[in-house]
Amino acid sequence: MPYSQEFGDHFYCREDGRLECGHVFLAGNGLPERWHRPGTFRIGELGFGTGLNFCETWRQWKAAPFEGANLHFVSFERFPMRAPEIDRALTRWPEIEAERLALCAQWPDYPEGRIDLDFASGLRLTVVCGAALEGIGGLTEKVDAWYLDGFAPKRNPDMWSEDLMRLAYEDTVEGGTFATYAAAGFVRRNLQAAGFTVERRPGFGSKREMLGGVKSTSGVAE
Ligand SMILES: C[S@@+](CC[C@H](N)C(=O)[O-])C[C@H]1O[C@@H](n2cnc3c(N)ncnc32)[C@H](O)[C@@H]1O
Repeated sequence: MPYSQEFGDHFYCREDGRLECGHVFLAGNGLPERWHRPGTFRIGELGFGTGLNFCETWRQWKAAPFEGANLHFVSFERFPMRAPEIDRALTRWPEIEAERLALCAQWPDYPEGRIDLDFASGLRLTVVCGAALEGIGGLTEKVDAWYLDGFAPKRNPDMWSEDLMRLAYEDTVEGGTFATYAAAGFVRRNLQAAGFTVERRPGFGSKREMLGGVKSTSGVAE
């Protein structure tokens, strides 16, 4: 169970991080249903961590093939892990063994800068190393769905700041969505101030609430 000494927090919930990812980030963004269209669907993630969200997303992507559809998963990570650490964290889940092995096989020995990896089934992974607030400005294409996955907001406020939420909003397509396990009042207010329509939803496991929402200039949640 990976734990960050620096932030005093776990990388994912202790109950089952993979199932939490399915509930919060995939279902919370209307996935996999929204993948059923041709063209490139782009996911943006704040906090790559162990790559658990990436591997679970990839597993679900492979299970929902659609002719002419591609997936680009773009993630921002200030403290990228080394492959053995990623491998150790993810071996707990046999369901994502193939994805873990493929990710670790391509992951650079010394992750830094911008990492671009191409995988089978129309999937590309980009990890931009460094502070998210700096990296996000370099996005050249807009995101369809955000996974907001910093550490607990109280311990990692940089990942939930109004400035960062505003940049994420600017980099979102009209009708694009976000989802997060976090439900703190200041996170909700920053997302609203950025322009998102925000909803409180039932959280995963013992967490009562999570947040999800949409960028809609008409202000109506889908
Ligand atoms: C909850 S963990 C993410 C878990 C991850 N999504 C996974 O699937 O394992 C939060 C991540 O945010 C990263 N982080 C914290 N502050 C950051 C910042 N300012 N910019 C970019 N990444 C940051 C941490 O290093 C950590 O990997």
